[in-house]
Amino acid sequence: MSIISVVGPKGGIGKTTLSINATAALTRALSSGKNHNRICLVDLDLRLPTITSLLDSHPSKTFYDLFECLGKKTYQNDFLKIVYLMTSRFRAYVEGDIPARNERLAKMFHHYHAMNIDLFLASEFKYGNEIRELLKKRKEIKTISQIKKLQPILKKIDLEKFRSLLEEMERVAQPVMEEYISYIEEYGFSILGGEVPILGKRAHRKRINEPEFLLRFLEFLDHVFQKFEHVIVDTPAGGVNHMSSLMNVIDQVLFVFDLSNNIAINGSIDAVHTFIDYYEEFQADYAKGQLVGLDRVHVNRLLEQKGKGDLYQSIKNKKLGIVFNRCQSNQEIEKSLKMLREYLDTLDKYHQYKRRIQIVGMVPHNKVINITNNRKSLFYNMDIALSERMDLIAKAILSKNNICPTLADDDKTIISYLNKTKKPQLFEKLTRLAGSSTN
Ligand SMILES: Nc1ncnc2c1ncn2[C@@H]1O[C@H](COP(=O)(O)OP(=O)(O)OP(=O)(O)O)[C@@H](O)[C@H]1O
Ligand SMILES: [Mg+2]
Repeated sequence: MSIISVVGPKGGIGKTTLSINATAALTRALSSGKNHNRICLVDLDLRLPTITSLLDSHPSKTFYDLFECLGKKTYQNDFLKIVYLMTSRFRAYVEGDIPARNERLAKMFHHYHAMNIDLFLASEFKYGNEIRELLKKRKEIKTISQIKKLQPILKKIDLEKFRSLLEEMERVAQPVMEEYISYIEEYGFSILGGEVPILGKRAHRKRINEPEFLLRFLEFLDHVFQKFEHVIVDTPAGGVNHMSSLMNVIDQVLFVFDLSNNIAINGSIDAVHTFIDYYEEFQADYAKGQLVGLDRVHVNRLLEQKGKGDLYQSIKNKKLGIVFNRCQSNQEIEKSLKMLREYLDTLDKYHQYKRRIQIVGMVPHNKVINITNNRKSLFYNMDIALSERMDLIAKAILSKNNICPTLADDDKTIISYLNKTKKPQLFEKLTRLAGSSTN
């Protein structure tokens, strides 16, 4: 499994365009018959998802449904399970069935004070109001013996009924991954993501900022990632701040440099810096055994997959690549390489990273891209020269060794690599030239 993320902090620089077409090129490079579990394109733009409409393919369930399910069912259910255990322990204590010194009672008392009620939908559950009331009293209940004060509320909750409602809810609490993934026959890859703006809804904006909810969302993504051989993640402008832990599950980061826009280039250079910083901190925390939360979950997953020996290497060797977009001249490439080198140099990071940062590909500014985009289809395969650009990017993504130049190479080497075309074409050109000279 390999996860490739296409990033760039500015809007409109070509992240989505490149994600879609790189996915198509990867599909072609790997294709040997239809395989539904090979490649998935994930639209992580929760504000304004566009991939489903660009590809004119509309999955039956999208991230909007996922947020509803995780918020209304998964979170609700996990929350209520704890409330159930807590209520039954408290009742047992109040009714004299267990003493004040009881380990499980103490644990539930701790939960009582730590529970996050912000995401609980009281109106959706029969005993919602009683639960709210119970938790509102937390300020007054400072010791275990004070639980007795809760007796009138506890009595209003029928534990038998509560349990059977919970069992009923459990059956639909977990999202079914397959319902959210849609395989596009025509293109030979799957998509997962949005359809309508998800963060437009206030409840969802609130949810995405709650770590407990986020964890469930990331767990779902992780589940999907493991199903596929390759996953391309299209990220929104500005990145995925609320999901920074996601950076850890990414194997390769492709930074898009929009050469037509100096501000955008500066933004992408800054993104390279942000990632370097993040990974350096991650490595340091990992070495000291100080990873927490999702970072730790991720490391445990990698440990299972790779074993301890290779894990450190995999964290250390995340591939960082650059794709130039909207290129109109080689000078633009030279200029932005210079800007990036100088910036890294001022941070004293140039020598450390110059061989790590690969120059993966280049896509020219081209009308065909805009036109095909508006026609809701891929530009890949519409134009041979453009397809070759994407094939080069796909090849770099797939290769285990570094086949492309790095920031350490000279501009001439980089530019000649980026302009590389396939041999048959060169052969065609030569035979055409040979033909014309004999005429
Ligand atoms: N190389 C190119 N030549 C011509 N047009 C391009 C090129 N790359 C992208 N475009 C066009 O630029 C527009 C913006 O591209 P795209 O939506 O991929 O950007 P984005 O970075 O994903 O934007 P956002 O941050 O809003 O998600 C699209 O209309 C696309 O067709
Ligand atoms: Mg986009």
